[in-house]
Amino acid sequence: MCGIVGILGREPVAGQLVDALKRLEYRGYDSAGIATVENGHLERRRAEGKLKNLQERLNREPLSGLAGIGHTRWATHGKPTENNAHPHATERLAVVHNGIIENFRELREELEKEGATFGTETDTEVVAHLVTEEMKKGRSPVDAVRAALPRLRGAFALAFIFAGEDDMMIGARKGSPLAIGHGSGEMYLGSDAIALAPFTDAISYLDEGDWAVMSRDGVQIFDVAGNAVKRPVIKTSSSAFLLDKGNHRHFMAKEIHEQPEVVAHTLSHYIDMAKESVVLPGELPFEWNKIERVSISACGTAYYAGLVAKYWFERYARLPVEIDVASEFRYREAPLRKGDLALFVSQSGETADTLASLRYAKEQGLHVLSVVNVQTSTIARESDVIMPTLAGPEIGVASTKAFTCQLSVLACLAIAAGRARGAISDAEERKLVRALIEVPRHMNETLTLEGDIEALARDLGKSSDVLYLGRGTSYPLALEGALKLKEISYIHAEGYAAGELKHGPIALIDETMPVIVTAPYDSVFEKTVSNMQEVAARGGRIILLTDSKGAAEATMPGVTIITLPDMPSSVTPLVYALPVQLLAYYTAVALGTDIDQPRNLAKSVTVE
Ligand code: AGP
Repeated sequence: MCGIVGILGREPVAGQLVDALKRLEYRGYDSAGIATVENGHLERRRAEGKLKNLQERLNREPLSGLAGIGHTRWATHGKPTENNAHPHATERLAVVHNGIIENFRELREELEKEGATFGTETDTEVVAHLVTEEMKKGRSPVDAVRAALPRLRGAFALAFIFAGEDDMMIGARKGSPLAIGHGSGEMYLGSDAIALAPFTDAISYLDEGDWAVMSRDGVQIFDVAGNAVKRPVIKTSSSAFLLDKGNHRHFMAKEIHEQPEVVAHTLSHYIDMAKESVVLPGELPFEWNKIERVSISACGTAYYAGLVAKYWFERYARLPVEIDVASEFRYREAPLRKGDLALFVSQSGETADTLASLRYAKEQGLHVLSVVNVQTSTIARESDVIMPTLAGPEIGVASTKAFTCQLSVLACLAIAAGRARGAISDAEERKLVRALIEVPRHMNETLTLEGDIEALARDLGKSSDVLYLGRGTSYPLALEGALKLKEISYIHAEGYAAGELKHGPIALIDETMPVIVTAPYDSVFEKTVSNMQEVAARGGRIILLTDSKGAAEATMPGVTIITLPDMPSSVTPLVYALPVQLLAYYTAVALGTDIDQPRNLAKSVTVE
């Protein structure tokens, strides 16, 4: 996912642009660049690879312009080369872009017929030429952009500056978020408020289809129909300190350790601690006892949170749940019942597949409820109701604190549904809520096991394949553990329902294949013990995540046990997520991979 920034400043902006781009590094990128208006004409500096390469370029060839745009590029069209790096420019303008222009080929053919010559393989360069051709017809920059935008198909956020225009910047959003920052005598554009945090906390978010004409005195915003509109200026919470690693080596480590705090913060938003009961924020646009089925759809880690929620909704609310990864759900044409509930889980709130699934469910007349971390995101805006996770900005590409906050919210939703449907009593609700209230403490206790887990991870880093097993609500944790290990250490890993072991995967077991088993001492623990015995009998090496009772039972050879605090089985997914995250993290540390920005990955997949 790319990041874009723009500044109309009162002093040279090159340094500030690079600072803002540094705050967007978490989105994943492979090249970067800036452009400024220098005495009326446009200058660009671009570089392949990390921002330090761009900074070195600027040190050699500084820029002093007071108006500029910048970009971190995650290659979608064209290799990650300097030539393909944004900003793309003609003699009239420079533009940066986040997203995909789906009809760029037909536009490029049309523009080439009109005499435009292209120097890159990117879809973005088409935008530069499209607006330039409109200006060549005599249109002003504003009218040229107004004429060009409707011709673009796809998802994009754009920022333009123009030759000869030292006090103008134009931004546009369709499918990818774009924020406007209001400074004193300065104005900013950014892919999100995080990029603008060092400059201002007064932010306006463009709506779908909006575009904005900015000068240092202010901004004019137009909607997709071209009508002048106002968007509220809000004070954001992405203050500078949130975005430092503190005393951690990586954002992922910081975010793993933030979980007790942010889970407590999130739970306090949903629980009346005194009454030990769930009190959902805001009115629901439906009645739980009118819902016959819940359809859950999400991607990646968010999907695994949804998978845990399936067990909880079915167990505590007796509500049937159908769940699917969003990239399948969006095309499956699932028969849905009007008036039922569609539930979406997303940290970023911008995941293209999840958003498309939401739109499908909405068309089918379902109530749309989303559990999101970014409350100003597109998914949040298009939902009938949002249940926010209060994890704060999650910078590491590998999702950790957002996952446990998602589980916190989903647990509260399942309990609220159970109470409303009479499936659980007041006393049972209080028991479940009390268990949730104790989760932050259990998480803190579990974090004290970090040293033991780090020692195990050094050994795990020597493996080429790892198997994760779990049953019941520990099965989604097995899937999540495998994903965490894959995405940051690049070791192949697979999560499996423990009961499936004998249906094939056991053929993989030998002394070279570590098996990570998540098995608190719950109703299915004994079943999982027999799976572990099958693994041990074949010389397999087991790492068992369990509690004191489980540790006492697991006496087979070849098992290394990490003993977590005892807790009710209703909350084990929240707490057992931590050792699973730490195991992946320290394996990646041992291997020296780029943990916060793993290769090929982006923090939010805003394209299909
Ligand atoms: C999780 O560690 C991954 N980075 C990825 O699977 C992520 O969970 C997925 O892309 C969904 O993102 P979202 O929660 O922002 O929708």
